[in-house]
Amino acid sequence: MHDTPQPPARRETIAVLDFGSQYSQLITRRVRECQVYCEMLPWDAPPEALEALNPRGIILSGGPQSVYDRDAPYLQRHVLGRGVPVLGICYGMQLLAHQLGGAVAPSASREYGPAEVTLAPNAGPLLAGLNAPLAVWMSHGDRIERLPNGFAAVAHSPNSPVAAMADEDRRLYGLQFHPEVAHTPRGIDILRRFAVDICGCAPDWTAGSFIDETVAEIRETVGDGRVICGVSGGVDSTVVAALVHRAIGEQLTAVFVDTGMMRKDEASEAMGHLRGLLGESVVPVNATERFLEALEGVTDPEEKRKIIGRVFVEVFDEEAAHLGRVDFLAQGTLYPDVIESATSARSAVVIKTHHNVGGLPENMRMRLIEPLRSLFKDEVRAVGVALGLPEEMVYRPPFPGPGLAVRIIGEVTAERLHVLREADAVVREEIAAAGLERDIWQYFAVLTDLRSVGVMGDGRTYANAVAVRAVTSLDGMTADWARIPYDVLARISNRIVNEVPAVNRVVYDISSKPPATIEWE
Ligand code: XMP
Repeated sequence: MHDTPQPPARRETIAVLDFGSQYSQLITRRVRECQVYCEMLPWDAPPEALEALNPRGIILSGGPQSVYDRDAPYLQRHVLGRGVPVLGICYGMQLLAHQLGGAVAPSASREYGPAEVTLAPNAGPLLAGLNAPLAVWMSHGDRIERLPNGFAAVAHSPNSPVAAMADEDRRLYGLQFHPEVAHTPRGIDILRRFAVDICGCAPDWTAGSFIDETVAEIRETVGDGRVICGVSGGVDSTVVAALVHRAIGEQLTAVFVDTGMMRKDEASEAMGHLRGLLGESVVPVNATERFLEALEGVTDPEEKRKIIGRVFVEVFDEEAAHLGRVDFLAQGTLYPDVIESATSARSAVVIKTHHNVGGLPENMRMRLIEPLRSLFKDEVRAVGVALGLPEEMVYRPPFPGPGLAVRIIGEVTAERLHVLREADAVVREEIAAAGLERDIWQYFAVLTDLRSVGVMGDGRTYANAVAVRAVTSLDGMTADWARIPYDVLARISNRIVNEVPAVNRVVYDISSKPPATIEWE
């Protein structure tokens, strides 16, 4: 039904084969930091998948297993058959040794944590000249007991006689330690040497080159067709729209649906920015009433999310129908979503339905274009900066698609939205005034469904309790509550009870994730 055009064969690429290490994605990111394009594939990727990528070099990641375990992932024959340089890291190195005729065995003591590695006098192009001894991060139970034919040990550590090995003729390399983690300070240099010096990839993959290539690709794919996309004011959808607009100008229609669930002044600010970037290509639709009607009387959080998703699709669909023939739908899918869906069979339970509003309308016969499907979030930001997007947009903290609806416990009404917006504005203003914006991942107010007794002036009140939530996090997967200074919390609390109608109590949420989540819902 939806036909996703394949991206054309990319520039010089390194492939990472994932053997299950928690660091596999990190390897990919580090190679990209060397300005060499890199993609990750599962260890058992079929030959065609590797062929499509046509990598100049292959990195085998670490993994939790031992090469002798039953059902342990192995190195497929076609990988070495490509004849390009291969770098095995930890488990990846042990696989190379094991499958090429060497011997791997459990070491007497597991090596885990920082270690110092001594380089051999002729350590070769991967390692020669790096500080000796070299500070590295080890994490392994097995070690190499006998090298396969053709290999030499090029580094050792107190616990690993073979901390690195190389077969320069076949350009096969192995590292017992992890070059991708920050605890191996020269690790990025090692990865750069592999990708650039050994594999011959030019380090020219930058935000600028990405934009040029992507714009050219979009032009070629779209031709004189028409493209529609949804824009929310968030960084992903804005970067998508800006790229497509740069490629095909007014053949793009970017629909901005105001759900009425945005924060104070946010819809008008977003519209202002979008107008500046996209000119007449952006079409605002104020659907606040429609969303409120659909949400009337609904208190169940999942139900609210479903309703918002459904109404959004309806509104978007109607806009698309006004345009007549539309050939393409542009979406802001990112690389982690692509990887996640590729490995979804193994992935954990869904805690909440995380769908962005703007889910794909099932009955639309449009082809998909996903210009960001190869990028990590920080790379999207870099592209945003290179496209000239305003800072507020590029560094906007994450905001859930269903908006304030997930921050109102109980029914969503116009009045309750107003209360929450005002309280939330106070939180944002005070965090900004204290200069804490960049230290805190997300900070916001929640309108609880709790009312409690208070006293104001001489009168008793019975009014709403607002919760303030502020968390530090790297990726939203885990989070801790932010240690905001007491005086900032005091100002937030004072201002909310004084300035916001119908609130007489403010509490600060001191739960980490897990076991709590960031949003209350
Ligand atoms: P939780 O509440 O699960 O949230 O700890 C984790 C992160 O995801 C954000 N979030 C969403 N983001 N669409 C989004 O794009 C959504 O529906 C959604 N729901 C939650 C949340 O703000 C936090 O950063």
